[in-house]
Amino acid sequence: MKIAVNTGGGDAPGLNAVIKGIVLTAYQKGWEVYGIKYGYRGLMDTKQIVRLTPETVWNITDIGGTILGTAITGDPFRYAVTQAGGAVVETDVSDTVVGNFKALGFGVLIAVGGDGSLRIAQKFMQKGIPVVGVPKTIDNDIRLTDVTFGFDTAVNTATEAIDKLHTTAKSHDRVMVVEVMGRYVGWIALHSGISGSADVILIPEIPYDIDKVCNRIRQLELLGQDHAIVVVSEGAKPVGGDITVAEGKQSGCEVRLGGVGKKVADEIGQRTGKETRHIVLGHLQRGGAPTTYDRLLSLRFGAAAVRFVEAGKFGMMAAVQSTEIVAVPIEDAIGQIKSVPMDSDILITARSLGISFGD
Ligand code: F6P
Repeated sequence: MKIAVNTGGGDAPGLNAVIKGIVLTAYQKGWEVYGIKYGYRGLMDTKQIVRLTPETVWNITDIGGTILGTAITGDPFRYAVTQAGGAVVETDVSDTVVGNFKALGFGVLIAVGGDGSLRIAQKFMQKGIPVVGVPKTIDNDIRLTDVTFGFDTAVNTATEAIDKLHTTAKSHDRVMVVEVMGRYVGWIALHSGISGSADVILIPEIPYDIDKVCNRIRQLELLGQDHAIVVVSEGAKPVGGDITVAEGKQSGCEVRLGGVGKKVADEIGQRTGKETRHIVLGHLQRGGAPTTYDRLLSLRFGAAAVRFVEAGKFGMMAAVQSTEIVAVPIEDAIGQIKSVPMDSDILITARSLGISFGD
């Protein structure tokens, strides 16, 4: 068996540990593993394919990023091809990918990616490439898995930042607004906000009323707390309003989120008269060494993906449900995102602690 593995979409801490899990598990079965560089691009330009032996992965469990590189553009079904006249036209080059995959004698593609990359993987499955998926994203928005790898590390980074903001906020009697990642779901904001003792958490799932946010800050003052920490998910939006979009495009076609933290901070400052500052944590949440939890989860995902190959479970994605790694159909996991449910115990806990969601 010759296994091809790629990492696609935004990077997440734990990608290298997944690769290690795949390579060492496959090695024990006498199988070969090849890394496809930069998402699917390596299957268009096959010079971008590297043999992954145990020696190449021994020391990478704790290293962030991905040794294979990744790409948020480069969907072979909508590939940006520059024409003779210079015009860039989206072209379907998926047949080239399938042709190269078969010509190189690969038996399976293990696609490590988020919703976008797994959708592409599923399309290749339909075109005859056997595929196994591994769910990656710091946003934790993939359905049918309790958690994705990378999420725990991102939450730890955000929590640590919020912890640090408490002391400076308290010293100056300021409101500090922290914008965290998460795209259209509020998992990072919710987990880090509760753990970092935020006073207000704004998430996309609960449109906020800025007056209610300000009322909570005034209420805290009456209780003797002159500073406040507000954690805002980048996809948060006001009641009846829209998400805040940053300039520039992402993933070739998707909007880039960003800027809601500043908007919320400005409004709080104007309405309460309190000195307010905002900070955007941005890509710090994607970088650095994975936490212990993410290392173990990633190694388990990698090893499980190879077991799925052995069992012929193609079209399936490794998922963690309760304490076990299970196989779920990729097509059931993609398409819809996993939002924070309104009856989530974590949300209920936050409300019990007096945290406001601006609703
Ligand atoms: O999906 C992961 C993520 O980090 C999101 O949280 C964020 O909105 C986006 O990617 C940022 O993407 P980019 O690296 O293209 O700016």
